Amino acid sequence: MAATHGIRTLGVLGAGQMGLGIAYVSALHARVAVRLYDRSPAQIQSGLKFMDKLLEKDVAKGKISQTDAQEAKDRVQVVSEHAGVKDMRDVDMVVEAVSENLSLKQNIFRELSQELSPNTILASNTSSISLTKIAAATVLEGLHAASEEARKSAARVVGLHFFNPVPVMKLVELISALQTSQETLDRARAFAAACGKTVTVSKDVPGFVSNALLMPFINEAIMCLEKGTATRDDIDTTLKLGMNHPMGPLQLGEFIGLDTCLAIQQTLYTGTGDSKYRPSILLERMVDAGWLGKKSGRGFYEYP
Ligand code: CAA
Repeated sequence: MAATHGIRTLGVLGAGQMGLGIAYVSALHARVAVRLYDRSPAQIQSGLKFMDKLLEKDVAKGKISQTDAQEAKDRVQVVSEHAGVKDMRDVDMVVEAVSENLSLKQNIFRELSQELSPNTILASNTSSISLTKIAAATVLEGLHAASEEARKSAARVVGLHFFNPVPVMKLVELISALQTSQETLDRARAFAAACGKTVTVSKDVPGFVSNALLMPFINEAIMCLEKGTATRDDIDTTLKLGMNHPMGPLQLGEFIGLDTCLAIQQTLYTGTGDSKYRPSILLERMVDAGWLGKKSGRGFYEYP
């Protein structure tokens, strides 16, 4: 028999494009109550506005009813700015979707493990960072690794990697830390399925399957531009029309954010020690300049 997720209330940490998208599919498709938190109230407000627009568009297109849209809206509650994760004590699962930074994620998971019940599933939407390292942060310092408390704390950590734009992309990559229990994996898988996603499983290796393949592709496209192999437009058009990709690799890198691409590429490079993952110097310079793509208004393209 397929496992049930048993999630009635979900906490989402981070209301950027990913967190917002996760909140959206959870409220609309999995029909769970969502408690959304971001340290920037402005980010939450712009995210909620965007969610309203998406729901209105789906109603106008006849994909969902007005009642579905209103119910989804009502299911999303904003967590008070001061309480932060303390206001998530009653949730059954948390999905963390903050920026791709190991120590930031470790601090968040340490706090979550201290504030929330040991039965709460702690999922990370990380796109490349080791889940095993994140899970280790939930074990209190000085605790014996073989103790029941240490085992239980880390066993509920799992990787749930959604793709951008979350409402559109049909995949979730499920990643097991060394410490993750089978029950956590089964429930996380069932939850992703309830969100309307197909689930693939990857081992906890740098970049998992998705980004171990995608990031070198984007990095290589930037190296082509760096070497003058072809123009920006010719690189992207070659892949769009020659291989039927919805976006060329340069365009896709800017859609993801060149800073995120660089962070993932660095994780691949340092995590494997393999020179084939060396980030392109041009990619580093673009990030140095703050030319990150769509989110900063400028990258290889301009976004007026
Ligand atoms: N949020 C929600 N919905 C969105 C959206 C967004 N940000 N952007 C577009 N959409 C929806 C549109 O509303 C539209 O929906 P309807 O069919 O209901 O009208 C649909 O997507 C198609 O949009 P458009 O017609 O405006 O544009 P398009 O046909 O060019 O598609 C795209 C846009 C879906 C983004 C498409 O270009 C695409 O699939 N690109 C590749 C995206 C991709 O590879 N994403 C994965 C990135 S890697 C990642 O996320 C993980 C990581 O670890 C880095």
